[in-house]
Formats: sequence, structure tokens, C-alpha cells
Amino acid sequence: MIIRRKSDSLAVHGGAPVRDVATKPWPAWPHVSEEEWEQAIGPALKDVYLSSVEADPAPNKPGPKAGAFADAFARYCGTRYGIMTPSGTTALSLAIQAALDATGLDDRGEVIVPDYTYVASASSVLLAGYSVVFADIHPETFTLDPYSVEAAITDRTVAILPVHVAGHPADMDAINRIARKHGLKVIEDCAQAHGAEVNGHKVGSLGDAGAYSFQATKNLTAGESGAVITNDQAIFERVQRIRDMGRQPGGKRWEYATLGWNYRTSDYLAAILQVRLKNLDEQSAHRNANAAFLTERLREIEGITPPHTMPWATRHAYHLYAILYHAPAFGGHSRDEFVDALRAEGIPVVAGYSPLSQTQAMTSVATKHPGRIRVVARPNLEAIEGQAVWVTQDMLMGTRQDLDDIVEAIAKVKRSFNVGI
Ligand SMILES: Cc1ncc(COP(=O)(O)O)c(C=O)c1O
Repeated sequence: MIIRRKSDSLAVHGGAPVRDVATKPWPAWPHVSEEEWEQAIGPALKDVYLSSVEADPAPNKPGPKAGAFADAFARYCGTRYGIMTPSGTTALSLAIQAALDATGLDDRGEVIVPDYTYVASASSVLLAGYSVVFADIHPETFTLDPYSVEAAITDRTVAILPVHVAGHPADMDAINRIARKHGLKVIEDCAQAHGAEVNGHKVGSLGDAGAYSFQATKNLTAGESGAVITNDQAIFERVQRIRDMGRQPGGKRWEYATLGWNYRTSDYLAAILQVRLKNLDEQSAHRNANAAFLTERLREIEGITPPHTMPWATRHAYHLYAILYHAPAFGGHSRDEFVDALRAEGIPVVAGYSPLSQTQAMTSVATKHPGRIRVVARPNLEAIEGQAVWVTQDMLMGTRQDLDDIVEAIAKVKRSFNVGI
């Protein structure tokens, strides 16, 4: 490997950074251009504005753009039904309540969730009235481990909630087999996995319902919003009702069939998403090519394990490029020191999750409401704790030269950590 040595004094100690982000910023996300505004986004927003229809025009009838985008996104994912939501969190809540036919008023069982995910994967279960079982992850994909799921099942289990974390799809064949065997629902958290596929099928189409996020950092975004997709008509009808205060589609304004929430959304967001959906596959291909390049380069650095893609993952979404950092090869410096040093070098990596079960939100629920949270043995998660470092998707949208800076900075930090400068 050819390594350019500008200076081995770490930027965190006052040396010159590998990348001066003031003069060489990372690509902004989302990508924007005057041309796209003129030709697509501007006209789409103008359409909404001039129509005076910015949201549901009638009880439980999504606005025209929200309806059209939800249909297009469902088609893209290979499902029959789709509906927009204000966020990924509300999409998860809707999917859980609709798939389990819950009112949110009672605790009717346990949902198995990986202990390595964003808070919403578990909080949406608890706030829907269900209990959470935190299970282990696969050691290489960091997604829900089917062996741990099977061992965690009791007669209270009602659903499994795999998270396609970082954009790598969970082992859906194994999870669905277990679900069928035990009569459980499967709700996929796809917030980090736009376009990811299992054996050619998009995530979100593989379980009973899928929840997506279009929040600002996501691979498809309009700042905020989300979507639920499903092939199940009964689930879809419940999603529709819960999303609009319990109203029946086509029903009367003051008639409520069930309890529900206001999870309606704005047509302006849908207008932007419809344009950006067209770019998703090309952007995803760019991230995949860059991830492959980065993996080739990083293999040369002892102490860094690049992400592994399983054979069933026919497309990775690379929302995050998750590496494992092995401190002994870096002079024993901690993962957090490594992250700080890289950030100072102009490489804005992020430290990976800590176990969600150990956060204050979850430990206080477990203390105040015994039985609402159960944590099973998670040896794989413990083995990688304090090692995950993420290169975020916006960085993967860069050029090969941008990626060279990542490799150069890691190599510099390693040299410096090992000789103590
Ligand atoms: C795995 C996962 N689930 C759910 C969500 C929630 O999405 P939102 O932020 O749109 O509510 C996120 C967003 O960060 C996520 O990463």
C-alpha cells in the first residue's frame, strides 16, 4: 500500500490534518442542484402549492402526492400497499399496532428486538403496549441473530422485529421460518436499508409489514417522514385507520372506527420524495462500488475488520459502512480515542451503538415496570462492544480520492498510536 505521509503528528495533538474540511468539505447530503430544482423539485412543489391540496383532502384519503409516492415506493419495494407517515418512528408504531391488531391499551405479549439498534425499534414496541425482549446479533452483520431469537421465544412472544441495521439485510429466511413455526408476526425495521435486497427481494416486503424512515440522514430523505409497506390487506386497512384517528377510508369526518393517531403527512414532502426516489438505485450503486473499494484498501490495515456481506444480501444499502476496530493493533488506544483522532484528521466517522438495553430509557422502564423488558444472553454483541466505527452513507457518496483520505487517516492514526505520537 502506498501511504502519503504529510505529517505523522496527529491533528488531535495539533498536527496538520489529512483532510482540511474547510477547503475540502465532504459531499453535503442530500445532494442538491439548481438543475434538479428547476426541472423537478421546484415544479413538483409548485404543483402542490397551486393545487391548495397540501394534505388529506377528505377523511382518511392521503393527498394526491402522498398517495402517489406511497404507491410508487410500495411498487419499488415489491409490495401491494404503502402509506406515508410523518417519520420512521411513527411508521414503526403503525406497523406494530396494525400487524398485532393492538389498541395500545394492554400488554399482550413480547416482541423480540435486536439489542443493537436505534431507540425507536424498541420504544415503538413498548409505547404500543408490548414488552421487549432484547436478543443477540449476528457477529458479522450486526443484525438479529436467528439462534438467539429461537432461544428467546416463550408462550408470550407475539412478534419478531428484525432491523436491517447499517443497510445489511437481516437473515430473513431464517427469521421467517422461525416465525412460521411459532405463529409469530414479523415487522421489519427498514429505516437504514432503502433498496436493500434479500435474494433479489426488497426489505420490507419479506415480513408482515415494513417500516421506513426518510429522515434527513437517510439514503432517501425529505428531511423527515417515513412509510409503512405491506402485502397484507387486513394490516393495510388497520394502518389506514390508525394513521387517521381511527377513521375509515371514505368514512365520515366525525366517525371513528377504532382509536388512532394523527400520523398524516404533508404533500410537499411526498413531492420531494417522488423526485428523489428516481435517484435511489444509482446512488445505491455508487455506495456499493465505493464500499467495495474501501474494503479492498482497508484489508491491508491490520486491526481493522471491514464489513462482511452475507450471500443472501443481494444488495446492501450501505447506510453505514461499519468497521470493527481492534485496539491491540492500535497500541491499545480505545475505540473512542480512535474516533476522536480520525475526526480531528477531517474524517467524520461515528462510534457505533452501545447495547440499547443498557440506556437509561430502557433500564428505567425495566426497573419501574418489571416484565416489560427482558434481556437474553448476547455473547456476540458483547464480543464487538466498543469496536464498531461507522463511515456514514454521505461519505460513501464521495469520490475515490475522498475514500483515499479515509484510508490514509486510519493508517496515520495507527502509526501514531503505535509509536506514541
Ligand atoms: C433503525 C432505525 N429505526 C427507526 C428509526 C426512526 O426513524 P425516524 O428518525 O424517521 O423516526 C431510525 C432513524 O434513525 C433508525 O435508524
